[in-house]
Amino acid sequence: MKKRSSWSGHLGFVLAAAASAIGLGNLWRFPANAAGHGGGLFLLIYVAMVALVGVPLLTTEIALGRRTRRSPSRTFRKLNRRWWGVGAMAMLIPAIILPYYCVVGGWVTKYFVASFFGGTDAIDFMSWSGEAESVGMYSLAFLVATVALILLGVRKGIEASNKIMMPALLILTVGIALFVMLRPSCFPGLKYYVLPDISRIGGVGGLGRTVLAAMGQMFFSLSIAMGIMITYGSYVGKSDSIPKASARIAFFDTLVALLAGAIIIPSAYAFGGEELAQTGGFGLMFVSLPKVFEAMPFGHVVGAAFFTLVLFAALTSSISMAETVASSICDFTLWSRKKAAIITFVWCIVAGLPSVLSMKALGGCDFLADIILIPVCAFLTCIVVGWVAGPKVVLDEIGEQRPFFRSLYSFFIRYLAPIFIAIVFVSGLLKSV
Ligand code: ALA
Repeated sequence: MKKRSSWSGHLGFVLAAAASAIGLGNLWRFPANAAGHGGGLFLLIYVAMVALVGVPLLTTEIALGRRTRRSPSRTFRKLNRRWWGVGAMAMLIPAIILPYYCVVGGWVTKYFVASFFGGTDAIDFMSWSGEAESVGMYSLAFLVATVALILLGVRKGIEASNKIMMPALLILTVGIALFVMLRPSCFPGLKYYVLPDISRIGGVGGLGRTVLAAMGQMFFSLSIAMGIMITYGSYVGKSDSIPKASARIAFFDTLVALLAGAIIIPSAYAFGGEELAQTGGFGLMFVSLPKVFEAMPFGHVVGAAFFTLVLFAALTSSISMAETVASSICDFTLWSRKKAAIITFVWCIVAGLPSVLSMKALGGCDFLADIILIPVCAFLTCIVVGWVAGPKVVLDEIGEQRPFFRSLYSFFIRYLAPIFIAIVFVSGLLKSV
């Protein structure tokens, strides 16, 4: 068997995994979700979930990947032959997300180009289908860049680009967030974003729906239950501390999401009032920001910097999804990386077409992947680790010897996490239909 590639060290891995986690989920999806689900209360629920459920599950997936050094499906097959389907499902999820992710990436590319050469005001985001032809071309460009980067290989392609992209991303996000937060016109929107207000929860499907949205957002944003962290974990060196890496990844991911919300929601609020902030949905980032940048002094510079940042983040995440899909194809078929990348490419073109043509189709794919499949996959992962293979597989891999923490983790993965996910999933879904 071919030797599996590996990261060049702890930093290389943390950067790559954080770069996978930080993406359109933080910058495009999180602000839309937070604004639509009651602002401050959503933030509280979200942060608590990241700390209490996200970090342990991230640790679990990375540990499984490192233990087996296989793609998700083979990882689960190795844990127990009968449960290989959970891994196949974990691979299917990025295969569903990647095509529409590339379409949103295409929108970002379009704004990125326009912010340098002028004319974002001419882009009519709401008439999605009216822009289909050019969005199709930009999405294709985004997809080509993604596939080209994975073809360069794990180390050269992903790691090299992350070392430049990640620090630039953090600096730019903090800078732009400060810029927005210090503007008096953005104060009401900032209040709307951070202050918990239970009355705002009622209108959007109740608390159950909000908690489900926060859970889906947390999984999406941390790249959990989509095979990515198992795949990335399979390249991690034996001496790296997985719990520490997981906490760092979750911290940076949440920081960027909160900052993105602090950039986008107050801006949208200042521009279009509460109604736009609350109902802007997936268009929030694209509809409001270019207009706000236009109204700002040096707005074109801020806008160009912002869309550069979003494009970087989107690319590093799409690379991780493409990497997961392609490496799974390689593991299944023993085909070359190049062949697997071409199949991934063709699949994205075919499956992404509906999302190019309609925002509804994109929303449908997002709902299927994020609200339905990801929670189911996360639940099944807990069952396999907790009850089929046993918590020992993870605990031994992360080198946890302390009896208290061993019991705590066992309780978490066997009872707490699956019961919590099941309750949130069922009650949230009942509110959605
Ligand atoms: N975790 C990735 C993101 O947030 C998929 O975009």
